[in-house]
Amino acid sequence: MTLTNIADTIKLADGNKIPGFGFGTYLISDQESMDTTIKTAWDEGYRLFDTAMLYRNEDILGETLHRLEIPRQELYLTSKVAEEVQGYDQTLKSVEGSLKRLQTDYLDLLLIHWPVREHFFDTWRAFEQLKADGKVKSIGVSNYTAAHLDLLATKAKEMPVVDQVEYHPYLNQLALLDYNKQHNIVTEAWSPLGRRAVLGDPMIAKIGKHHDKSVAQVILRWELQHGILPIPKSQHPERIVENTKVFDFTLDEDEMSTIDLLNKYQRTGNEPEIVYETGKQY
Ligand SMILES: NC(=O)c1ccc[n+]([C@@H]2O[C@H](COP(=O)([O-])OP(=O)(O)OC[C@H]3O[C@@H](n4cnc5c(N)ncnc54)[C@H](OP(=O)(O)O)[C@@H]3O)[C@@H](O)[C@H]2O)c1
Repeated sequence: MTLTNIADTIKLADGNKIPGFGFGTYLISDQESMDTTIKTAWDEGYRLFDTAMLYRNEDILGETLHRLEIPRQELYLTSKVAEEVQGYDQTLKSVEGSLKRLQTDYLDLLLIHWPVREHFFDTWRAFEQLKADGKVKSIGVSNYTAAHLDLLATKAKEMPVVDQVEYHPYLNQLALLDYNKQHNIVTEAWSPLGRRAVLGDPMIAKIGKHHDKSVAQVILRWELQHGILPIPKSQHPERIVENTKVFDFTLDEDEMSTIDLLNKYQRTGNEPEIVYETGKQY
């Protein structure tokens, strides 16, 4: 069922709820920008804020949230464990660092940022431990393919409730989306706007014109109607607002399938299988 407003939540397989629409913070790197950006996003109704150790902005995000005096239970905080600190002990230790930087004693969602062959099962064992210890409410993965999830299932005590992957009209991963739905895993879209690469698409612009919506709004709507949780990032107040105005129109079946057909297998980020093999981004 497609969400009807930005405050709607989705029930995860572990029983917890996650906002159905979120905000990305990659490349927001100074305190002033973080303060103004997050304040705008909060006022517009965004509740899920996505960061990662790798972004080196957990500390400024933590400081912003502290300054805004947002009650912790109203926030949904996601962070991710980087490749170089994977493994059982290292993961436990690195999450302590994230919690400290974010000025909180728990994360709502912790993700393995990329699959890494060498530490594949040990990192997940640490995630299960962190959840049992109450340091994180929900555990998930990022950039996992169906094959990675099948492999994880051979030893996991519990399975990820979220898989955050690159997803936009030029990299639609419909097969992975089907797999995740069948396994009760929520698919989060990172680079939901293709980091702007899709914003010049003439076909989406034409569909947008019909609804009096921008290309960005049509793309986000297409993701929502597919049951995907998008986490667009912007540092421009007018775009932060624009990206939330996606709950007042509907794409029909023809429009949905027209956008589905724009797939070019075009990535803005790394190929997960190579990161899995080499243990690092390239
Ligand atoms: N798990 C992973 O491996 C992974 C990888 C990458 C990203 N992520 C997460 O996903 C989030 C989103 O992905 P992303 O930041 O890579 O890409 P994105 O959200 O697809 O695109 C962000 C870019 O689009 C621009 N933009 C946003 N809204 C716009 C609008 N309405 N009109 C025109 N331009 C617009 C932004 O510019 P301005 O900021 O200048 O407005 C920025 O340059 C990240 O911030 C991060 O939290 C996760």
